[in-house]
Amino acid sequence: MSLLLLLLLTQQTPVHTLCQQCHTEAAAGVESHPHFAKSVSCDACHGASEKHRAASGHVAPDRVAVREQVPPLCGACHPTQRKAYDSSPHAAALRAGSKPVHCASCHGNHAPRPTRAIESSCQKCHNALPAACAANSPRVAKVRCAGCHNPHSLSRN
Ligand code: HEC
Ligand code: HEC
Ligand code: HEC
Ligand code: HEC
Ligand code: HEC
Ligand code: HEC
Repeated sequence: MSLLLLLLLTQQTPVHTLCQQCHTEAAAGVESHPHFAKSVSCDACHGASEKHRAASGHVAPDRVAVREQVPPLCGACHPTQRKAYDSSPHAAALRAGSKPVHCASCHGNHAPRPTRAIESSCQKCHNALPAACAANSPRVAKVRCAGCHNPHSLSRN
């Protein structure tokens, strides 16, 4: 095979497939997300990371978002949710450097997380629900948090 043809083939292989060889779990997660159907995969969040690939992982990928960088990363494509999140006490806590609650802490990095699973994790931090929640419903633990609180701004719906 000519070098040119080989080069062309390499260029046409989607980045997703190239990363998948070493990161089967992340790849399977992304494939199960609506992101994948819209061609949002590894390169959208980590860059093409050519050097990382060529060095079998010994060079860092182009981009790995640390927690403060997650809202701008996701918010580039989800501006409405970012704007609401930025106004929330969760964002204030992240800015203050305390308990990080950002997009990926609720939604995960790769695989989609159902609303029910996200909401059952609220009580990891809010273990004693304020009486104000229960006052509105005798069975608050069974009512969706998002039924009363916007999950991004946290203001009441
Ligand atoms: C030849 C194998 C290989 C390929 C191909 C590969 N990686 Fe990696 N990657 C590694 C290894 C090894 C590590 C370090 C150990 C680990 O975290 O699993 C790593 C780590 C990572 C990390 C975590 C880095 C960190 O600082 O936490 C990310 C993100 C990543 N790779 C993204 C990618 C992306 C995106 C692609 C495709 C463009 C890719 N990798 C292709 C081997 C590979
Ligand atoms: C929608 C954005 C997004 C996409 C798409 C995405 N990642 Fe990630 N990935 C993240 C975030 C956010 C983290 C967490 C970074 C951190 O730990 O600070 C992460 C972490 C990782 C890690 C290290 C920890 C872990 O969860 O395994 C690897 C390896 C990785 N990604 C590989 C990939 C590969 C391979 C693809 C494509 C199949 C991919 N990612 C697609 C956002 C994304
Ligand atoms: C490159 C653009 C892009 C980036 C970056 C991105 N997304 Fe998305 N996201 C999309 C698109 C496109 C959809 C599909 C929208 C649709 O079909 O209505 C989507 C859908 C979603 C959905 C809805 C899934 C559902 O079940 O309907 C969630 C949640 C989501 N993204 C979270 C995130 C998070 C968290 C991050 C950061 C880790 C992120 N996105 C980064 C483009 C992006
Ligand atoms: C405290 C947890 C939490 C955080 C932090 C969070 N989300 Fe969400 N998000 C949710 C829940 C819960 C839903 C489902 C809402 C529903 O079912 O009514 C959701 C829904 C979504 C959706 C689907 C469309 C919609 O608005 O219902 C997108 C897209 C999304 N989030 C993106 C983001 C982005 C981007 C960030 C960061 C800027 C973020 N989320 C931060 C919990 C969170
Ligand atoms: C990792 C821990 C953590 C998780 C998970 C978490 N939160 Fe929070 N939450 C906080 C922190 C920290 C604050 C800032 C105020 C404080 O210190 O109590 C906060 C504030 C709030 C507030 C506003 C309180 C006020 O003073 O006005 C509401 C409402 C809220 N969270 C709801 C939720 C919901 C709903 C979920 C799940 C979708 C959730 N939280 C998940 C840590 C968390
Ligand atoms: C039936 C409506 C309702 C439901 C369901 C609900 N809440 Fe609330 N919650 C309230 C009201 C009302 C307040 C009082 C503060 C306000 O006006 O926003 C409140 C306040 C809070 C506060 C802030 C308390 C403070 O000190 O100011 C947190 C944190 C909170 N809720 C978390 C949750 C979580 C987590 C869930 C799901 C497990 C949930 N809530 C479900 C109605 C509700």
